[in-house]
Amino acid sequence: MTDQNHKLSFDEFDEVTNPRKDLCEFDQVVERAISRRGFLSVVTVSTASFIAGAGFLRGTAEAAADRFGFEQIPANTLDAVTVPEGFSVSPVVHWGDPLWSDAEPFDWSVAGTAAQQAKAFGDNNDGMTLFSIEGRSVLVVNNEYTNVEVANAHNESKVPETDDEVLKGMLAHGVTVVELAEGENGWTYVKDSPFNRRITPQTEMTIAGPAAGHDLLKTEADPTGTKTLGTWNNCANGRTPWGTYLACEENFNGYFSSSDEGLEVSPEFVRYGIKTKDWGYGWAKIDERFDIAKHPHEPNRAGYVVEIDPSDPTSTPVKRTALGRFKHENAELVVNGDGRVVVYMGDDERGEFLYRYVSNGVYSLGGDNGALLDDGKLYAARFNDDGTGEWLELSEAATGMSAAEIAIHTRIAASAVGATTMDRPEWVTANPTKAEVYVALTNNKNRGIKTNAGGDETPVGGPNPRAENKYGQVVRWLPGGGDHAAADFEWNIFVLAGNPTVHGDANAGSDNVNAGNMFNSPDGLAFDTTGLLWIQTDGNYGNEGDFAGQGNNQMLAADTETGEIRRFLVGPLACEVTGVTWSADRKTMFVGIQHPGENGEPSHWPAGGDSVPRSGVVAITRNDGGVIG
Ligand code: FEO
Ligand code: CA
Ligand code: CA
Repeated sequence: MTDQNHKLSFDEFDEVTNPRKDLCEFDQVVERAISRRGFLSVVTVSTASFIAGAGFLRGTAEAAADRFGFEQIPANTLDAVTVPEGFSVSPVVHWGDPLWSDAEPFDWSVAGTAAQQAKAFGDNNDGMTLFSIEGRSVLVVNNEYTNVEVANAHNESKVPETDDEVLKGMLAHGVTVVELAEGENGWTYVKDSPFNRRITPQTEMTIAGPAAGHDLLKTEADPTGTKTLGTWNNCANGRTPWGTYLACEENFNGYFSSSDEGLEVSPEFVRYGIKTKDWGYGWAKIDERFDIAKHPHEPNRAGYVVEIDPSDPTSTPVKRTALGRFKHENAELVVNGDGRVVVYMGDDERGEFLYRYVSNGVYSLGGDNGALLDDGKLYAARFNDDGTGEWLELSEAATGMSAAEIAIHTRIAASAVGATTMDRPEWVTANPTKAEVYVALTNNKNRGIKTNAGGDETPVGGPNPRAENKYGQVVRWLPGGGDHAAADFEWNIFVLAGNPTVHGDANAGSDNVNAGNMFNSPDGLAFDTTGLLWIQTDGNYGNEGDFAGQGNNQMLAADTETGEIRRFLVGPLACEVTGVTWSADRKTMFVGIQHPGENGEPSHWPAGGDSVPRSGVVAITRNDGGVIG
């Protein structure tokens, strides 16, 4: 979610591209960033830490050439998706599109009804994966949340007033499974496909792993603590090699409230941001599961990674509690050299942690691998200032908690072992060409100012080198010995986002940031098959002050060998660019546009005129028919 609300100006292509030379030695880039911009004078981090971390790239940069295949576009504040010359963008599926022919078309004068939404593409699409199933293209896409002011714009209050308005908002959450097909006129979604499915906060799910059956998960409706209803605030995602999708529950807390306003909230609820008031969704009005005064264990049943089988629309999704409970961003799954499955995960909250799960069993091609995500070890990352780091196991011995308690109160377990508080870990992505992993740390206004909700300090330094971090950074690490299950790693900062036209200090960013490619708040991260890193932003689109010249949220590509970053796409007004996946032939890149026109900003994307702004997925192709990633 965007946590800033800034008025936009409408500058047109006023940013001058500042081309970089093709090759640059990354560790020199970092050294220059440190020396030229007075890095050491403003951050408590040693030069040695960056050089040691950057050293792993030595010897690789010389071989690199232009791997982008496009010319950078300038920043802009248009109400459109813009891409480089030689590429085309077309709409594929949007909020409210009916998935079945017996669905009523959306009544946009009231942004739909609950009955319409139940059979339509959900709102605010986020992480997504395109699966190839029986030769068909099946898109699974998270519908993270709704903008209540957009969905209820017809009400003077701008919030849901009737039970049906509350329910339509609820049913706009969850996950959409929808078949796509490429025809003469490009990609469209397939109405009535047997794969089409809506998964919502009302869909029956199984709870598996160490927390399943624990007393903290038992409710009146489910005395076994193993069955629950639904998933919501599904942010980013993951995929498994056995063909399933991982939907990650992020800000699950914002939907709970209390009918007893004087209710004293437990320290565990405080750590997870569960309060007596919700964020305006009103779900407890129509479903008392969301009333913590009546059902105090319900919040313990959310905040997990949910595994979904897109090949079977009747399958029951499974909450995999072994992957921990926190504000999950995505789940980047890697099959390690020894066959064990490793899942990297961020907890997107100021001062929370970066996690790794390592399965005990090994992946078997064609076998039943579901249990791999129920039985394993969970770790949190500690970053040392000297460029080294270690994975701290969240074991019973180290935390003094049971395996179930670790799975349920994972943040508390990670605090107990002294993990490093991070600048809001968003997506994690692993390089397909070598054992190397990247995380987007989106921003953190509390860095160096405030503890996290567990009271852990947030010192300035290491991978979080700027106080009151406005711009964010991308940090990368090399697992020890190339083994994703190793206890140790080496890390450095791939890019410190910043604004070199406004600042001359560390807020200018690292040297691979310039007036032509600058951005703020990296969020989505994904490698393509060629090893190019794609970066999506969810930040301040005010285009003024600290963010002058950065325009709307955007998507960039990075050559991780040279450090070069180029802007590929700019999204419409007040959107976040989030979610990326590719067609099987790699000739189409699908990109998600979320919440255009949030906070009353004047977007009418994609339909224009005076239409309601609608989140959606676009297809991007090369005009020459070539591959794109
Ligand atoms: Fe849903 Fe952390 O972004
Ligand atoms: Ca995100
Ligand atoms: Ca974000």
